[in-house]
Amino acid sequence: MIRFDRLEELVKKYLEKEPTGHDYLHALRVCNNAKELLVGIKCDHSVVLAACLVHDLIDHKLDPQFKMDLNDLNKELESVGFSCDQIKMIEDIITNMSFSKKGRFDYIEGQITQDSDRLDALGAIGIARTFAFGGAHKRQIYDMNLNLETSVGHFYDKLFLLSDLMNTEEGKKEALKRTLFMKEFIEKLSKEINYSTFRKSE
Ligand code: ADP
Ligand code: NI
Repeated sequence: MIRFDRLEELVKKYLEKEPTGHDYLHALRVCNNAKELLVGIKCDHSVVLAACLVHDLIDHKLDPQFKMDLNDLNKELESVGFSCDQIKMIEDIITNMSFSKKGRFDYIEGQITQDSDRLDALGAIGIARTFAFGGAHKRQIYDMNLNLETSVGHFYDKLFLLSDLMNTEEGKKEALKRTLFMKEFIEKLSKEINYSTFRKSE
């Protein structure tokens, strides 16, 4: 019997106040996405749910106060009931799933965890997280050179590419819906930006 309640508490302790969109509630949403994608799929559901919960605890982008050492995390996973093999799989997933690593998994547990995290980068919540991240990292909302380093630039640099990278059928379906919504948002935003530029030069 795995003590998910204790794992959740651990993630809450570290990430509750994380300000860049990699917080405790992100971990819970990724878990909920996984629960949807796992329906009818035969694999180790516990590994997927644990990987979703803890995946950002070791993210190099996070401030040190929110981060855990991988060995300490593995000890926690053991203490809540995971076997050695399960811990190895969770470690493989969370160290290789990020967009920047361009990791691809050849087993379903990794594929579902990766899709579940990517879904939370898309849609309305994806938009909210992008501007939260941008603000926390003191980035511009946009600039006039279509710079990819701005928050709006991030849609072109990464977010609009994600739906093509989804591993599962269901994940891809949801990713396409969320991407469509983001494209509508960016289209509206672009119109407003042009409008105010026009007004200024009047
Ligand atoms: P991954 O877990 O695939 O490596 P990240 O942790 O880099 O993904 O990104 C998670 C979310 O943080 C992104 O989907 C986005 O909302 C936000 N984010 C990351 N990098 C940027 C950026 N350069 N500008 C704006 N938002 C970003
Ligand atoms: Ni994440």
